[in-house]
Amino acid sequence: MQNEVNGMVNIAILGFGTVGSGVAEVLTKNSGLIDGRVNNQVRLKYIMRARDIFEGPYKDLFVKDFSTIEHDPEVGIVVETIGGVGAALDYTTRALKAGKSVVTANKELVATHGYELLQLAKEHGVSYLFEASVGGGIPILRPLNACLAANEVDQVTGILNGTTNYILTRMIKAGLTFEQALKEAQDKGYAEKDPTADVEGHDACRKICILASIAFGRHVYPRQVPTEGITGVTLADVAYAESCNRKIKLLGRAVKELDGKICAYVAPHLIDAEAPLAGVEDVFNAIMVKGDAIGDVMFYGRGAGKLPTASAVVADVMDAARHIRSRKRVEWGPGGEDVTVSPEGVPFRWYVRCAGTAEKVRAAGLDAALLSRPGAPADEVAFLTRAMPRGELMSALSGMELGSLFRVLE
Ligand code: HSE
Repeated sequence: MQNEVNGMVNIAILGFGTVGSGVAEVLTKNSGLIDGRVNNQVRLKYIMRARDIFEGPYKDLFVKDFSTIEHDPEVGIVVETIGGVGAALDYTTRALKAGKSVVTANKELVATHGYELLQLAKEHGVSYLFEASVGGGIPILRPLNACLAANEVDQVTGILNGTTNYILTRMIKAGLTFEQALKEAQDKGYAEKDPTADVEGHDACRKICILASIAFGRHVYPRQVPTEGITGVTLADVAYAESCNRKIKLLGRAVKELDGKICAYVAPHLIDAEAPLAGVEDVFNAIMVKGDAIGDVMFYGRGAGKLPTASAVVADVMDAARHIRSRKRVEWGPGGEDVTVSPEGVPFRWYVRCAGTAEKVRAAGLDAALLSRPGAPADEVAFLTRAMPRGELMSALSGMELGSLFRVLE
C-alpha cells in the first residue's frame, strides 16, 4: 500500500539539473490538468539538491538530506534525476524499500540494475517507471510494453542518440568533418563538453539494452552489447555511402535470432537513403519495431531536452499516481550469458574502405561491388560485400590496411 494522504499524492524530486528543473516546471505549470487527469491532487513536496543555495520559486521545497524524503510517510513518488549508478542506485533502492514509487530518466541505472530494481518494486508493491530513459519525450517503452503486447517482436532498430545523429547529419549535409560537426554540436549545447558517452556509443548502448529487455523479456546488460561509436566515420565514408544511395547512421539494434537468442549491438551502418530511418535528421531520434502482427512501426521525435524529457517523466508520475493503491506492472526476466549471442558469428553485408586496389579486392574473392568517389587517392578502395560473418571478411582482407568497416542495413 502506497502513500496517499487526504486524497493527495506527494512528490519528491532528487536532483535539480536540466531534467529535475523541467519536471518541477511541468508539474507546477500544468498542475490543474495533471490533477484532473489523475483524479487526485499531485503535489510537489520536496526537491533534493546538493547545493546550499535555496532561492527562486521552489526555495521552500529544497532539502539536502535524502532521509527527510525517505522517512516522510506522505511522500508517495520519488523522481530520480541525479543520473549515474552511485547515489541514484542507493536512493532508488531506499525509496522502493520505503514503499515509494520511483520514476526516472536514468538509462545507465535501468540498463545496469533494471531487473533487480523492478523486482524490488514488485516486492514492495510499488511502481518503477522510466519512459524518459529511452527516446526522451518519444513514447516508446509504454507502447512496446502495452500497445504492441500481442506481437512477437523480431527486432528493434533505432537512432537512439541525438548528438551523434546531429554530427552525422552535418557531415552528410554540410560536408563538415567529424571534429567540426562535434564542435558545432557543443556550441549549440547538444553535445557535452566531454562527449565520450555519446560519440563512443555508450548512451545508445544503454538505450538498446532497455529496449531489448522490454521487447524480449530478459535483461540485456551493456557488457553483452558490442558498441562502436562514430569517431571513425570520415567524409570519405560519407561520399562512398552517397555514391550507392545510402546514408551513414549510428544504429542500436536488438534482433531475435532463430535460436531465440538476442543479437544486440551499436554501430554505424549504411542505410538506404529512401528508408524511413534515413529521413531522421539533426537531433531527432527514431525507433523502428518489427512485430509479427503489426509489421514495421516507427516512433519519432525529440530524444533529449529539458521539456521533452520532463513530458515523459511527468506522464510516468501521473501513471504512478493513478496506481498509487496498487502497482503499475512493468517487469522482465533475469539476464544471463544464455540470453544473447555475439554479432561476430552473424552474417551481415559490409561496407569496407581500405588501402589497396580493385585487383586486390577481386583476388580476395569477396564478390564485392566496388564504389567510387571524386578525388579518391589511387591506393584507396571501397566496396560492399555479400552477407558474411565479420571473421570471414577479416580473413579475406588480411594484409590490406583497413580504414572503415560498417554494416549495411538491408
Ligand atoms: N546525450 C543524449 C543524446 C541525450 O544526445 O541523445 C540523453 O540521452
